[in-house]
Amino acid sequence: MRTEHARPIRLSDYRPPDWLVDTVHLDVALHPSRTRIKARLALRPNPAARGPAPLVLDGDELTPLSVTIDGAALPETAYAAGPDGLEIPQPPAGPFVLEVETEIDPSANTKLMGLYRSSGNYCTQCEAEGFRRITYFLDRPDVMAVYTTRIEADRDEAPVLLGNGNLVERGDVPGTGRHFAVWHDPFPKPCYLFALVGGRLDVCRTTYTTMSGRSVELAVYVEPGKADRAGYALAALERSMRWDEQAFGREYDLDVFNIVAVADFNMGAMENKGLNIFNDKYVLASPETATDADFAHIEAVIAHEYFHNWTGNRITCRDWFQLCLKEGLTVFRDQEFSSDMRSRPVKRIADVRVLRGHQFVEDAGPLAHPVRPETYREINNFYTATVYEKGAEVVRMLKTLLGPETFRAGMDLYFARHDGRAATIEEFVACFAEAGDTDFSQFMLWYGQAGTPELAVTRRHDAQGGTLVLDIAQVVPPTPGQPVKSPMQIPLVLGLVGPDGRDVPLVRRGHGPVERGVLVLTRPAERFVFDGITVPVVPSLNRGFSAPVKIKADLGSDDLRFLATHDSDPFNRWQAVQTLASEILIGNVAVIRAGGGVRHDGGLVHALASVLDDERLEPAFVAQVLSIPSEGDIARDIGRDVDPEAIFNARHALRRAIGNDLAPTLRVLYDRLRDDGPYSPDAASAGRRALRNVCLDLLAAPGHAGAVALAAAQYAEADNMTDRMAALGTLSLHDTAEREAALADFAERFRDDPLVIDKWFALQAMIPDPGTLARVERLIDHPAFSLGNPNRVRALLGSFAQANHTQFNRADGKGYDFVAGMVLTLDGRNPQVAARLMTAFRSWRALEPGRRDKARATLERVAANPSLSRDLADIVERSLGER
Ligand code: BES
Ligand code: ZN
Repeated sequence: MRTEHARPIRLSDYRPPDWLVDTVHLDVALHPSRTRIKARLALRPNPAARGPAPLVLDGDELTPLSVTIDGAALPETAYAAGPDGLEIPQPPAGPFVLEVETEIDPSANTKLMGLYRSSGNYCTQCEAEGFRRITYFLDRPDVMAVYTTRIEADRDEAPVLLGNGNLVERGDVPGTGRHFAVWHDPFPKPCYLFALVGGRLDVCRTTYTTMSGRSVELAVYVEPGKADRAGYALAALERSMRWDEQAFGREYDLDVFNIVAVADFNMGAMENKGLNIFNDKYVLASPETATDADFAHIEAVIAHEYFHNWTGNRITCRDWFQLCLKEGLTVFRDQEFSSDMRSRPVKRIADVRVLRGHQFVEDAGPLAHPVRPETYREINNFYTATVYEKGAEVVRMLKTLLGPETFRAGMDLYFARHDGRAATIEEFVACFAEAGDTDFSQFMLWYGQAGTPELAVTRRHDAQGGTLVLDIAQVVPPTPGQPVKSPMQIPLVLGLVGPDGRDVPLVRRGHGPVERGVLVLTRPAERFVFDGITVPVVPSLNRGFSAPVKIKADLGSDDLRFLATHDSDPFNRWQAVQTLASEILIGNVAVIRAGGGVRHDGGLVHALASVLDDERLEPAFVAQVLSIPSEGDIARDIGRDVDPEAIFNARHALRRAIGNDLAPTLRVLYDRLRDDGPYSPDAASAGRRALRNVCLDLLAAPGHAGAVALAAAQYAEADNMTDRMAALGTLSLHDTAEREAALADFAERFRDDPLVIDKWFALQAMIPDPGTLARVERLIDHPAFSLGNPNRVRALLGSFAQANHTQFNRADGKGYDFVAGMVLTLDGRNPQVAARLMTAFRSWRALEPGRRDKARATLERVAANPSLSRDLADIVERSLGER
């Protein structure tokens, strides 16, 4: 029953389960190294299956102790049980009760899947396939059961005992020093949503009244002494609950909602029914220890996991191929929530930056896969930017195509029709097709076809005749396993901006006014003719980033500057500046590689100045405009033969030029935006700090001592982590004594706070200096570093590999060797985290030949290792595969 080298799982092989589980009774006796689990499962044959079948239950690193059927011990000849599974070849023909006792060692669980310990507390993580590490089970999401869990533990070791659902009983076990709690969850759920927690925890609570007047006890549990940092998370939970009632009509359904923050967690957070478990980084926050970005992330992650209660838990996935059904949809929902809580345009820009920075990159390399994959070897490797971020874009496109009212009607239909069940993407999309009386068969390609569509747009204006002709062609590039693509259905929101900056009405020949500005592309090439266009116009394409595509349009820099100042669509105002900057940067990268000196372009600075001068704009938006494309953005736009060093130099030169040319304006703004009141994490205050800190960074870019000193002063005087960290970030880019002094001060100041020390690790790992590799190697030995904690690994090694383009991609290949070595060490302990780190190599084929050869050699060395985990082997082999 070894699964390590199991053949790939295919969507087309899906069969309903042979057995169903109606109820699960678990009796868990917590012990640091010998935890015992008695499981009582009420099983019955699935009427939808093919007839009598053996019972095959999944297991992973389990020790079986006993097996009974309907109360009678099963003879050893009647079953086979081992670490990886339990098989009963001839189970009873009808319903029966199976009781199995297993033993596990939570202290030895370094994979952090199943039941494990974090800071001495017990906690669980079951998604995707961790429940089989607790007891034998049909570990697949289409097996939904009602759970009752009795948890028992030493009262001293674990005074707090939490489970899914509502608490039904608690008490002492007389004479043993132990106590117990019984939790019952009335909602049928797949086992990946099971959770329990036991430990010493402090709590921050409140009561919430739902829209129908029911009272719900909300609680956030944290490590002792940290409850004063849980208030923001708790308030974010209340806002999320209210928003889901108002925006989607969805009410919470249990009497309690508990959140537990733990220090050791593979992911960000997990939506277990009624008992969310969080990485403490997405719960704990105070002005002194968390940045504005941290507060925003906490709000978004709390919302995301809460929203899963309806999109994921009440309605779950039939199989793991449908992962985007819950994740893409729930990301869409959390994005909408944050847009309503904060600034919609700024949130959209931030989300598109993430999409392009992660998903477009994934789509362009060997790990590209469809939003709904058709095959996998290790499901953990498919919690990707494509499933999440592109999955959210696909939902957003449905809304754009249908309009908000019909979209909401489709969601209502989905909730009504599939509540309590495990669904598929087809069933989800069918609800919108029905609500909108629309055919979405071509739209389904968004789920099946990988790769980022590329649009080419050309225009012809006949001012006399008053017509504008737009020719739009689309191509979807080949991706692994998908050499040839079909054209997609693409909602492209268009505006035509007239000379006064106002939109000219869109009237399409033969169709009339264009509803909500949405053009729907369906063919490889098509022509759109607009009448009544008697003045010169500049097309504003893909407004609000209505579709996740790349666009090449015949817009000159005059047009882009015009859009940057006049477009009524804030996203495209921002985009115009990005495109201008990107064109300059790409030109200069070529110049640098040819040995020349960079060109300076006053047009961009002009556009930036006009945005800086526009007092109607919100500061957070201006901050986004001033943030020029990242090294990753430039590499992606260049696409092949990438030289990270040349990209860094071109970008550095542009930042210096902006800092020099705009110095007076930046300085005035920096002083004006100073906030002397008490810190508040609200979006408006955060936006002012963001802009002020971008100003500081650009002022310092040319490296003048005065500006570096300004950063040092801000570092020293800051009364909040946002300003302190921003100043430290700016200092980190300048190889000066101030930098080392500030880094030393920071380490000393926050030495007892692991989450803050993570920022210190991450910042140093991202320093774009040749000395950074040695610095990171030294930090591995720092007492605060540990390979056992995923946050530490991501902070130090993840930041180096994913965010330090010049130093990870050192020309001598030493960055690759270092990361690969750490990945191999990590793989024996925590394969999921190791595999994730290895995805840093996913763009290796786009590098210039020298680095490409070195990266390939490193990948091949890792691949040659005989004892790789399935997680890591999957990533390495796909990375080396076709394309
Ligand atoms: N269901 C996931 C958690 C998860 C991820 C479990 C991967 C198993 C494997 C959860 O809802 C989630 O998506 N969490 C995200 C954060 C979220 C805001 C996108 C995470 O953990 O990164
Ligand atoms: Zn999720």
